[in-house]
Amino acid sequence: MLTDRFGRTIDYLRVSVTDRCDLRCTYCLPNDFTGFEDPPDWLTFDEIVRVVRAFARMGTRRVRLTGGEPLTRGRLPELAARLAALPGLQDLSLSTNGTRLARHAAALKAAGVARLNVSLDSLDRACVAGITGRDCLPDVLQGLEAARDAGFAPIKINMVAMAGVNGHEIEAMAAFCIERGFLLRLIEAMPMGETGRAAGWLDLGPVRDRLVERFGLVPQARELGGGPARYYGTPDGQAGIGFITPMSQHFCATCNRVRLSVDGTLYLCLGQEEKVELRPLLRNGGSDADLERAIRAAIELKPREHDFTRQPEKIVRFMSQTGG
Ligand code: GTP
Ligand code: 5AD
Ligand code: SF4
Repeated sequence: MLTDRFGRTIDYLRVSVTDRCDLRCTYCLPNDFTGFEDPPDWLTFDEIVRVVRAFARMGTRRVRLTGGEPLTRGRLPELAARLAALPGLQDLSLSTNGTRLARHAAALKAAGVARLNVSLDSLDRACVAGITGRDCLPDVLQGLEAARDAGFAPIKINMVAMAGVNGHEIEAMAAFCIERGFLLRLIEAMPMGETGRAAGWLDLGPVRDRLVERFGLVPQARELGGGPARYYGTPDGQAGIGFITPMSQHFCATCNRVRLSVDGTLYLCLGQEEKVELRPLLRNGGSDADLERAIRAAIELKPREHDFTRQPEKIVRFMSQTGG
């Protein structure tokens, strides 16, 4: 079991399999960004499996594959199958932008991916193109259908809600998701990098009150994943909406996760700089015992909470580097 200095059990590892992406969401990655990791520095599948196996031995039960866009990394279902087979892991999930989901949904399901979170910020084609830099709404909608056909349920839709950009579309998105059985999560933009800071922050407190009233939502105690969302359900229990509010009401006291980036850096908090590089150990003959020691030492560095509200300019890395 991994426990940090603040008594939090760390049993959720987010693994970024690439920092590259086929989109350029305004709140995530600048259009002209070129500072991607070099392929020789990417952890290989063998190295990723080795790190995850070590975490699983130390009590990690949930693993989420992230990016950049994870489906831009070749043969991802092969990695998923190897991770799903690791003893101790109970929940393998994937966060994706959905553009390549139609091609890969069935293989991901067969590989043992249990849960899918798909980014979609609007149902308006031009608005999606404006946010992501590509006219990708039809691909994402097809991806969602393919994922449902492959048997994923419930599929979560992540919408970063931004004032003056897509804030006026929240009701339409909620109605769309409730009707089709997708679980909508509304997310407050975090000031990660200059892109995250430029995103118009929208306080989700009043939005939640409005949606509760309009759709008759009731707070849900039921756990719908391992993450920070707080959920409200429709009265019939068939649908719901999750709120992820790092800015207006943070959830650091119950944080259960750390992040492994594609170059083998373990980030201890999304909104802080503490990190430990595992790649040298992996490539210089470190034993499994060394790896476990390094991970335990890293967990000791996990900060109490992020500084997004007190020091919004602190984090210069973009979200694509650590995978959300
Ligand atoms: P579930 O296991 O389904 O609950 O996944 P999740 O919500 O943790 O993962 P997802 O990749 O879908 O992330 C949704 C949003 O939550 C993204 O904007 C993430 O950046 C944000 N998020 C996830 N974990 C954390 C966290 O520990 N701290 C903060 N501040 N934001 C987080
Ligand atoms: N703030 C909040 N969420 C973000 N994401 C990407 N960048 C940001 C940001 N600056 C979200 C994506 C994706 C999830 C993994 O992280 O929309 O759904
Ligand atoms: Fe890519 Fe995800 Fe960033 Fe959008 S949010 S640019 S899909 S990494």
